[in-house]
Amino acid sequence: MSATSSWLWPWLLLNIFLFLPKIPSSHLPPPVPTCRDKCGNLTIKYPFGSDFGCGHPDFARYIKCTSGELRFSSGTGMYTVSTIDYTTSTLVLTDLFMSTCSSMQNSGSFRMDRASPFTISSRDIFVLLGCSRTSPVFDPDEDLCDSGSGLHLCRGLYSCEGVSGIGLEPNGPVSSCCVYQPMIDLGPGYGLDLPKLQCSSYASMYGFGGDETDPMKWQFGISLEYNDSYYTETCKNCEASGGFCGFAGMTQSFSCICRGGGNSTTTCFGRGYAWNGTWRHKVQTKMTFGGVLLFWIMLISL
Ligand SMILES: *[C@@H]1O[C@H](CO)[C@@H](O)[C@H](O)[C@H]1NC(C)=O
Ligand SMILES: *[C@@H]1O[C@H](CO)[C@@H](O)[C@H](O)[C@H]1NC(C)=O
Ligand SMILES: *[C@@H]1O[C@H](CO)[C@@H](O)[C@H](O)[C@H]1NC(C)=O
Ligand SMILES: *[C@@H]1O[C@H](CO)[C@@H](O)[C@H](O)[C@H]1NC(C)=O
Repeated sequence: MSATSSWLWPWLLLNIFLFLPKIPSSHLPPPVPTCRDKCGNLTIKYPFGSDFGCGHPDFARYIKCTSGELRFSSGTGMYTVSTIDYTTSTLVLTDLFMSTCSSMQNSGSFRMDRASPFTISSRDIFVLLGCSRTSPVFDPDEDLCDSGSGLHLCRGLYSCEGVSGIGLEPNGPVSSCCVYQPMIDLGPGYGLDLPKLQCSSYASMYGFGGDETDPMKWQFGISLEYNDSYYTETCKNCEASGGFCGFAGMTQSFSCICRGGGNSTTTCFGRGYAWNGTWRHKVQTKMTFGGVLLFWIMLISL
């Protein structure tokens, strides 16, 4: 073995490394969705997805990331998802037309689609505002409104300056207000139909921010729980390989979507996972090293 061949050996190896990854690029991969782990400043994890084809198809129908904002849609409208807690499988929606202490206005209805994987969390308290005297919520046989301790929530909200937005005077009588706490998780199909209930607006609280006496501190929003049994072993394996769980095709079957592009029915191992910045950077370093080597070989042979 000559000295030159021992110099050439790493150079050959380098060529193999440099040209090998080029082979797959000659057949163009089919268009595969790109998945991201953020939507605005919200962390997106399974079963949610940042783009079509990411996450679980049952969730993709309701949750979409549009211009950096995660939106929840149901038959009654579009809502902004303000937080997601993956440990408790809950998320909080903000309805632009919902009343809060600082701003009250006529609201639309809120209802969840029958087939959706979401339920209204039992910690939600709904306060129906500006209801007519003849409203079915005041039907004594229904016993829907909390007319006991809940009334202080009505007093709290009716003390807000915002009530003028629904045509009421601050600190007026609370006889047109109804506090409704479902106590149980309301399943799909449930919701508030304001025209039917003959109420102008509603407020939903999922907490009091530590001070039940100060409505400015209350946490306004609709807390929903989602079915967390979608997280399968297949999906965990896909994530362990650096992929995003998603779906593809007419049947919306499972697809593991790889970060650097490409997809697979199982995992991203050996499927272009290494094709990220780190790997590319390494190849470039090797190339520079190879160039220096080649220069020395040429110098020696002169
Ligand atoms: C996320 O951004 C919104 C506005 O874009 C802001 O109101 C909210 O506080 C932010 N949340 C966090 C956790 O930074
Ligand atoms: C949750 O989703 C799983 C899987 O799709 C389904 O089998 C189960 O019935 C759902 N559970 C509820 C409470 O909807
Ligand atoms: C990969 O993605 C393409 C485009 O969405 C799709 O047609 C194909 O079925 C997917 N393949 C796998 C294995 O998921
Ligand atoms: C590339 O992959 C490595 C793991 O091999 C990971 O630590 C790194 O964050 C990835 N880089 C990018 C840009 O995704």
